[in-house]
Amino acid sequence: MANKTSTTQSDLDKRGSGRITEPAKYLIDVLEADRAKIAREIHDEAGQLLISAVFRLDQALAVLPGAFVARELIQEARQMLDECGDELRRVAFNLRPRMLDDLGLLPALRSYLKQYAKLNDVELESDLEEPPKKLDHATELAIFRIIQEAIANVRKHARATRVRVRLGFTSGEAQLEVSDNGVGFDPSAISSDSRPRLKMGLAGMRERAAALGGEVQVTSRPLGGTAVHARLPIDGRYKA
Ligand SMILES: Nc1ncnc2c1ncn2[C@@H]1O[C@H](COP(=O)(O)OP(=O)(O)O)[C@@H](O)[C@H]1O
Ligand SMILES: [Mg+2]
Repeated sequence: MANKTSTTQSDLDKRGSGRITEPAKYLIDVLEADRAKIAREIHDEAGQLLISAVFRLDQALAVLPGAFVARELIQEARQMLDECGDELRRVAFNLRPRMLDDLGLLPALRSYLKQYAKLNDVELESDLEEPPKKLDHATELAIFRIIQEAIANVRKHARATRVRVRLGFTSGEAQLEVSDNGVGFDPSAISSDSRPRLKMGLAGMRERAAALGGEVQVTSRPLGGTAVHARLPIDGRYKA
């Protein structure tokens, strides 16, 4: 995908933003802990309340055989609560996929990509390799979040018909790539901001990777598709 007119994110790095700072890493940790807490609360508290409300509406329906209008209203409310439950599950999943904690990186990624392909009309090709050893939690999380954000960008901006996700491991390094055949953009037009940001985005991806001693390169050309390529050390240079 790269050619001589393309600009990579590391070119941009060289121009200005500098290295990751400790406060940025601290913010990422705090943000993740917070996200996990909010996701748990949505899932456990709000999710349980919804289930109880639906159960009570079903009970009310069972004892209201003749009241046609009331039955219709209750059925509508029930439908809304079901949809609300789906939405909450989606929000909680994006905040913090439990599967990442419960089952590990690959099942969480597979499930995420499957859900993505189902909801979006794109052809998804994925090639996910098992890590050669157990990765530390921060590395798993960074891999998941970078893929998640790159995929979100494809959905939001690329108008692509094909997405490819690849995760591989080479001597001491995880390498991941998300590429699409969409409209592309000019990376040099995107400002490279050195301040830690709480939103993810391309800058957030770079911060996350840099916090672990890795890097992210974005290669894109208008009308030429986009590829996000990240490398993260897995040799324990970083300890959470
Ligand atoms: N896969 C992509 N295809 C086309 N444009 C992209 C892609 N990824 C990023 N961009 C462009 O880069 C910009 C910055 O991306 P990002 O930092 O994630 O911020 P945001 O998604 O909130 O706009 C986007 O607004 C978009 O113009
Ligand atoms: Mg984005």
